[in-house]
Formats: sequence, structure tokens, C-alpha cells
Amino acid sequence: MIRKAKKEDFEQIYKLGENLHENYRQKYNLDELIKEEYFHVVVYEQDEQIVGFLIYTTVDNSTDIVDIYVEKKYRCQKIASNLLDQMISVSKPNTIFLLEVAVDNINAIKLYEKFGFKVIHTRKKYYGQKDAYVMERKMKDE
Ligand SMILES: CC(C)(COP(=O)(O)OP(=O)(O)OC[C@H]1O[C@@H](n2cnc3c(N)ncnc32)[C@H](O)[C@@H]1OP(=O)(O)O)[C@@H](O)C(=O)NCCC(=O)NCCS
Repeated sequence: MIRKAKKEDFEQIYKLGENLHENYRQKYNLDELIKEEYFHVVVYEQDEQIVGFLIYTTVDNSTDIVDIYVEKKYRCQKIASNLLDQMISVSKPNTIFLLEVAVDNINAIKLYEKFGFKVIHTRKKYYGQKDAYVMERKMKDE
């Protein structure tokens, strides 16, 4: 089940998020950020636990994907796809979606390509020594 995150979910999100960035709790103060209209946290709940989440921001017609994560044993079951579908379904029709992804994160790049994202730029040493692609998804008819 996909739903908006609640305060009670934050501990589980921090736990999963530690796999993405060290000190996830320090990086994102969800208690505060969730109060902001532009900040969105969506979770995927299965087996009575949070097994995946998506964080994104929206400003005007621009949406930035901040983080997407699915717990290892729940991968390849379309959970990330469902989270992205849900985000797109509630977005304005002319929304431009942007994200950064490490150039060697092949699985994530494949996922984004499936959703129509294209590489528009490479940011050198964006993740420490590692480069990142900036990927963009525009409406299909643009
Ligand atoms: C990337 C990630 C979110 C994908 O989650 P997921 O729920 O397993 O993805 P889905 O099942 O929705 O996969 C959708 C598509 O993505 C691609 N993909 C995802 N995982 C893949 C894998 N292990 N091998 C090959 N392709 C993969 C495929 O194209 C897949 O479509 P298909 O199943 O029809 O082949 C997950 O692997 C993850 O949490 N990784 C660690 C965190 C991360 O890298 N986040 C992105 C940071 S930018």
C-alpha cells in the first residue's frame, strides 16, 4: 500500500535511509520538513512495515526526486515503479521531473529510463569522487 508518510513512520524511514546516506537523520529533519508544502514523503507499506519510500519536492511545475529506496528483499517487485507512478499521478500535467543519480547506479538509471527520464547533464564528483547524471523527464508531448 502506498500512502503519505506519518510521523510514526519516520524511524523506519531513517533506518532505511541510512543505506543511502550516512546520518540520514541529520540530513533530513523529517519532523520539520514535512510541515513544508513543497516537501513530500511517500511510503510503501507491506507486511506491516515500511519497505520503501520516495522523497520529492515540488516548486511550481518542477519536481525534484530527492531519494527513492526499496529494502533489498523487496526489490524487483515494482515497488519503486509504483511509488513513481503515484508521484506522477498527483503531479500537474506540465510538470518537469529532475533527479541526480550516480553514473554507476545502473538499476536506478534503468528504472528512470523506463519512466522516460533522459540524461541532460553530468555533474563531476557529485558524490565524493563519483560523477552523477542529472536526468529529466518532461511531459511526453513536449
Ligand atoms: C533503484 C531501486 C529504488 C529500484 O527499486 P525496485 O522496487 O526494485 O524497482 P522496480 O521493481 O520498480 O524496477 C523497475 C525497473 O527498474 C529496473 N531495475 C530495477 N532494479 C533492477 C535490477 N536489480 N536489475 C535490473 N534492472 C532493474 C528495471 O528496468 C525494472 O523494470 P523490469 O522489472 O520491467 O525489468 C532499488 O534498487 C533501490 O532501492 N536501490 C538502492 C537505492 C538507490 O539506488 N536509489 C536511487 C538513488 S538515485
